Amino acid sequence: MSLFINFSYIISAILFIFGLKMLGSPATARRGNQLSALGMLLAIVVTLLNAGLDYKWIILGILVGSAIGVYAAVKVEMTAMPEMVALFNGFGGLASLFLAWAEYHQFLMDKAELPEMPTFIAIVTFLSVLIGGVTFSGSMVAFGKLSGKITQKAVVFTGQHLVNGAILAAALLAAAVFCANPGSGFGYFLFIVIVLISLGFGVTSTIPIGGADMPVVISLLNSYSGLAACAAGFVISNKLLIVAGALVGASGIILTKIMCKAMNRSLANVLFSGFGSTTAKSSGQGAQGEVRPASTEDVYYILEAADSVVFVPGYGLAVAQAQHVVRELGELLEKNDTEVSYAIHPVAGRMPGHMNVLLAEANVPYDQLVEMDDINPRMDSVDVCVVIGANDVVNPAALNDKSSPIYGMPIIETHRARTVIVLKRSMNPGFAGIENALFFGDNTRMYFGDAKESIQALVAQFKNN
Ligand code: TAP
Repeated sequence: MSLFINFSYIISAILFIFGLKMLGSPATARRGNQLSALGMLLAIVVTLLNAGLDYKWIILGILVGSAIGVYAAVKVEMTAMPEMVALFNGFGGLASLFLAWAEYHQFLMDKAELPEMPTFIAIVTFLSVLIGGVTFSGSMVAFGKLSGKITQKAVVFTGQHLVNGAILAAALLAAAVFCANPGSGFGYFLFIVIVLISLGFGVTSTIPIGGADMPVVISLLNSYSGLAACAAGFVISNKLLIVAGALVGASGIILTKIMCKAMNRSLANVLFSGFGSTTAKSSGQGAQGEVRPASTEDVYYILEAADSVVFVPGYGLAVAQAQHVVRELGELLEKNDTEVSYAIHPVAGRMPGHMNVLLAEANVPYDQLVEMDDINPRMDSVDVCVVIGANDVVNPAALNDKSSPIYGMPIIETHRARTVIVLKRSMNPGFAGIENALFFGDNTRMYFGDAKESIQALVAQFKNN
């Protein structure tokens, strides 16, 4: 039986790896997700074949977990996806903490019959608790910030790094004593201290990070939840949990790095700079001039005459849920012999791949999606860029205003297109809270209104003419 279980675990691990690889492209992402889910199903079924399990608790867990999963999948809005991921990461961390706790408790119960706990097991027990606890409480703070239940601002105070350093040092000291003699009566006391410290450290290390950086933190916490699971895998000697945890840990770190690069920030800057602790100032530079509003009819004539149109979606597209009407407009333009593409910025929206997910949902053909690095070199020859609810990711201040908080962040250089049409509701700033000189450019027309309603009006114009 053990041979069969281990062989099935290898199949599951292979499915996870191929699934992850397929998530790298919008064309294969759905299949990749299904493949990974199949791997997980196999892993769960095979794990249930282990002898000596108490099925009633397991079935109860499956029922409750599935009910929450189905509810979340049906109910949670696309724009609330980062919050949901934060919650799921947090519970992953908590599960690892509880698993290590249960094993330790069992060890103390069986101590009379068993030899001492090996130091390695004591160390991985400590790591499961520390990383799992930090993941749980850190994710709860991230959830609170993203959902607006607690302040989105970075909470900073003098000596904060010292306080955090002291908390971590206390955890390591408690761990050293715990690992030296986990079976002593004092061991359980230290264990509880470690649990409390880890929960506290998750809060104190996440509150100094502003709401703007939360998606990066969530990706990092996702990685932590994997590392906690990996450590828990060592605690219970489950090879698949070790592999799956390591995969989640590594992919979370890679994603975090990609996001930091796309925002031109270092991870240390995201974690320790307190970005967002004060209201970001408008850069001011270049953000002067005249705003030229356009009517639906104006925009219709501009688009109707264009040979090439590039849509640049941003967070506002998600808020307006305009993805389906955008695809419809794209199809009408194509019928009009216009070349249509969609330029995707890696951090447009509020979560990695946000725009890809929305456009895939609306069945936008994958071959029309263009990455930032591919569209920028040919931007000068684009007739019309239609910016739909994007702001920071098209802000030229990132290129030319050294005083801007987003200076250095790569952007989609829509200001270089022949004509730019910006769809948004007002002149309000985007996520970074700064003005955008693009909106005042000579070649820019502002098409004010909710993105979905504006595009619906354009679609109606195309259909009527
Ligand atoms: P933002 O800069 O946040 O701008 C979104 C714009 O959408 C706003 O200016 C808003 O203007 C407009 N909008 C909102 N609702 C709308 C609606 N119903 N119809 C039309 N327009 C609407 O978005 P972005 O350009 O996508 O940039 C993303 C930002 O998030 C960046 O600063 C990025 O660094 C940050 N961020 C992203 C991530 C990931 S992973 N995606 C992670 C961390 C941080 P109005 O209010 O005037 O309508």
